[in-house]
Formats: sequence, C-alpha cells, structure tokens
Amino acid sequence: MKICCIGAGYVGGPTMAMIAHKCDDIDVHVVDINSDRIAAWNSGTLPVYEPGLQEIVEANRDRNLFFSTEVDAHIRDADIIFISVNTPTKQYGVGKGKAADLKFIELCARRIAEVAVGHKIIVEKSTLPVRTAETVKRILANTPHGATFDVLSNPEFLAEGTAMTDLEAPDRVLIGGESAAAIETLVSVYARWVARERILTTNLWSSELSKLAANAFLAQRISSINAISALCEATQADVDEVAHAIGKDSRIGPKFLKASVGFGGSCFQKDILNLVYLCEHYGLTEVAEYWNQVVKMNDYQKARFARNMVKTLFNTVSGKRIAMLGYAFKKDTNDTRESAAIYVCRDLLTEQANVAIYDPKVTPAQIKADLKTVFTNGNGELAARDRKLIEENVIFCSSAQEAAKDAHGVAVMTEWDEFKTLDPAELYGLVYKPAFLFDGRNILDHNAYLQAGFEVYAIGKGLLDGE
Ligand code: NAD
Ligand code: UGA
Repeated sequence: MKICCIGAGYVGGPTMAMIAHKCDDIDVHVVDINSDRIAAWNSGTLPVYEPGLQEIVEANRDRNLFFSTEVDAHIRDADIIFISVNTPTKQYGVGKGKAADLKFIELCARRIAEVAVGHKIIVEKSTLPVRTAETVKRILANTPHGATFDVLSNPEFLAEGTAMTDLEAPDRVLIGGESAAAIETLVSVYARWVARERILTTNLWSSELSKLAANAFLAQRISSINAISALCEATQADVDEVAHAIGKDSRIGPKFLKASVGFGGSCFQKDILNLVYLCEHYGLTEVAEYWNQVVKMNDYQKARFARNMVKTLFNTVSGKRIAMLGYAFKKDTNDTRESAAIYVCRDLLTEQANVAIYDPKVTPAQIKADLKTVFTNGNGELAARDRKLIEENVIFCSSAQEAAKDAHGVAVMTEWDEFKTLDPAELYGLVYKPAFLFDGRNILDHNAYLQAGFEVYAIGKGLLDGE
C-alpha cells in the first residue's frame, strides 16, 4: 500500500511519521509545495518541534517515510491520499474573519482530479466546515484520466506538544464516509496499533462536524474557567481551588479547567469562528452568538491580563522593561500561532513598554513576524510607528534571567516546565524594585515569590498579599 499526504505541517508530518512507524509495509510520502519545509523535514532540524518526533522520523525516513515536493508523482502512485493542508480563517471577501479559507483544499482536490489514475481513497485530514466533502467530490468528478474516488473524513484530534503520544494512543480515531470498503481500508491502517473499539465510523457529515464540535467544547471549557477567574479576582475566591472543586464532579471532570492568559493555537479560534459562520449560514443566529461568546471571552482575558499589568505598574509601562517568560501558545511546542503572548505583547508595546522575551523554542524571527502581522492593518499596512516599536522595543533574550535583568515586571506567558524551577531570590536580585510578578499560567510557587519580595498578580487570584 502507498500513502501520499499533501501538506507537511504540524499534522501531516507527525501523523504520517506515526503511520510509517507503525506500518512497515506501507510507503508513506509526505508532499508539500513549500520546498523549505520539505528540506527541513529531510534535515537534522525538523520544522516542527514535538517531543519524540525526531526519533521516529530519523528511524523511518528514507525507509518507508519520505518527504518531497513531487506532489503529482506521489498523487499518481498512491492508494490513499490524505489532504492535510492549512484551512485558515478567510482574510478577504465574503466570510472575512470567520469562514474557513478552503482555497488550499480546493487546489489539492483539483490537482488530484488532474493527475490521478486508477482508484484512490481521498482522506480529509484537515479540519473543514461540514459538507466540504461534497465540494471535494464534485471537483473530483471532473477528472481527465477516468480515475475513481472515495472520499472519507478522518479529522485529527492531536494536541501540539503531545502529538506523538496522542497519535500513538488516541482517545479515538474518527472515520466518516459512504463506502464501507473504503472505510474498512482506512480502519485497517489504524487498526495496526489502535484498538478497534476506539476507531469510530460515522457518516461523512457527522465526522466533519464532530471535529468542529470537539474543539468548540474544549475551548468553551477554557473560556468558562477564564470567565470565572475574573469573578474570583473580584471576590477573593481562588480559581485553582474552584477548578479543583468543580472538577471533582465526575460529570464535569478535571481536565481543561486551567485558567490562563487565554487559549491560543492555530485551531480553537479559527474552528469556532468557522462554526459560527456555518450557524449563521444556516440561519441559526442564537447558536452562532452562543459559540461566538467563547472567542469574545478569550479576547477579553488576553486584554484583561495586559490591562492589569499596566494598572499594577502604576498605570504606566512607558519606557519600562517587561520580561516575558514564554511566547509559544503552550509548552513543548515552537508554535506561536494565535499565542496569547502576541496580543499581550502588542498591548504592552502600544503602551510603549520595552518587552524582553525569552522562550526556549521560539526564534526571534518568528516573534518579529508575529508582531508585524498583529500590527498590520486591514489594508496590509504596517505603520512606521509600529514598525519602530517592534524594531526598538522588543528585546530577544536567551534565558529567563537575561529577560528579567532590570525589568519592572516579569510575566509568565507559557507554562514551560523550566520556569517552575527558577530561583525567586535570584530573579528578585535582578529586577527593579518594587518587584512585580504576573503569572498568566499559575505555575509558579507564589508563596516563594512573595517571600523573596515580589508582589504577585496571578490569574484568578488577583494581587496576592502574602499573608
Ligand atoms: P500547517 O500550516 O502547519 O501545514 C499545512 C501545510 O500544507 C503547509 O506546509 C503548506 O505549505 C501545505 N500546503 C498548502 N497548500 C498546499 C498544496 N496545494 N499542495 C501541497 N501542500 C500545500 O497546518 P497544520 O497545523 O498541519 O494544520 C493542517 C490542518 O489540520 C488544518 O485544517 C488544521 O485545522 C488541522 N489540525 C491542526 C492541528 C494542529 O495541532 N496544528 C490539530 C488537528 C487538526
Ligand atoms: C487543540 C485540541 O486539544 C486538539 O484536540 C485539536 O486536535 C487541536 O486543538 C486542533 O484542532 O488543532 P492544541 O491547540 O494543540 O490542541 O493544544 P491544547 O492543549 O488544546 O491547548 C490549546 C490552548 O488552550 C493553549 O493555549 C493552552 O495553553 C490553552 N489551555 C488548555 C488553557 O488555557 N487551559 C487549559 O486547561 C487547557
């Protein structure tokens, strides 16, 4: 059996590496139009950082796992073609800011229709609006070489940072489709390492919608606990204690109840906005408004964190150095897409702060690119004033200590484990006094920082007084 995966990104790369790793007899070709990305997959420095990924890629690369830019050749050769391209929020025209931009999906479908021969199983791996398979099928119906197709939906549920363990032991694999034979072929691939009872089969539309619904439910939990965090700060309740207490109810459960500076990542916001757009499309205004509130609450949380910092630092951060510990949207990844840190950094820069950033995995080039994007207006223009802020007020550091040196405030943005072992007394010695710590993840030992001399603001706990 030969598999081709179009899209060598955060999903395509790790997912295909796992299939190659588990299925010796299957040749897996991951193709992409981005030649730099393919070159990186073929190098010692992979484009995606995931614990355990490098080992699996190195063990299988050029054996039964291949990365290349030869899209057409591998489409032609494959029995199963996964489409794992990006589906970002549309930035233009109808549905701008909400709908999923399906141009990359359509381009793939057209390419497959154009070059395919024989029978192919096409698998939607990307997250898509419900009924996209219909579009894909219509495009595939116009093929010059008499190829035939089955279209399946097989959304991916991996989370970044734990991609390899999620792929190795998934809660479930979901396969939606119309042809029992095609479904069984794909089931047989996963069944090499996933128990059959964890492989769910549904109709196409349930599968497509389940992916959007799962992300919406997950994000909703975070927005719910973040909403409660604001109320905790107003009432001296402690959000971690509240989360613990409600999570003990087996109907609620303890996971995904960690209050934070706001959820980030490439998918939660995009998928909810996509869901909102779909609901509006079907005239379900109240349903659309309900889900939109999850995103609004997240925006509120990010803005609230930055506002609290400014307020605590005597209502001005102009000319002050703020140490930002962490920039990735969560720990154990180099991904910064929609990271809360981008928005907090933008708000602090707008207040003329100097932001000293340290993240163990994110590059300065990525941070600059994110900030340029977030300051760029709807017409694609970056004001000279904002460019200057990015060039002059952002400082890239190679350790937490370097970032904290002469800082007026230290903010934890990402829950990297290494921040938990920082020495509060050492940091206290480095920063300006009065010393302020803003814990956007509630990962530090607040009492230890209070004892070292810091004033501590923690999400859902407010300004701690040390008693
Ligand atoms: P990504 O941007 O990292 O990768 C997508 C890749 O597709 C890029 O390398 C791009 O060059 C390539 N591509 C685009 N158009 C192409 C074309 N016509 N031909 C060949 N290559 C093309 O995206 P990602 O994070 O891997 O996400 C892919 C999909 O999976 C999205 O729909 C996303 O919502 C979904 N998803 C992502 C995650 C995640 O953790 N990132 C998890 C589950 C699902
Ligand atoms: C999420 C889902 O968990 C995956 O199942 C899904 O496949 C994926 O989106 C996707 O479709 O892209 P991911 O975004 O990689 O995965 O990471 P999560 O662990 O879900 O975290 C998302 C954001 O929520 C992070 O910023 C994280 O810090 C934040 N978060 C998470 C909280 O603030 N509190 C929590 O309790 C959990």
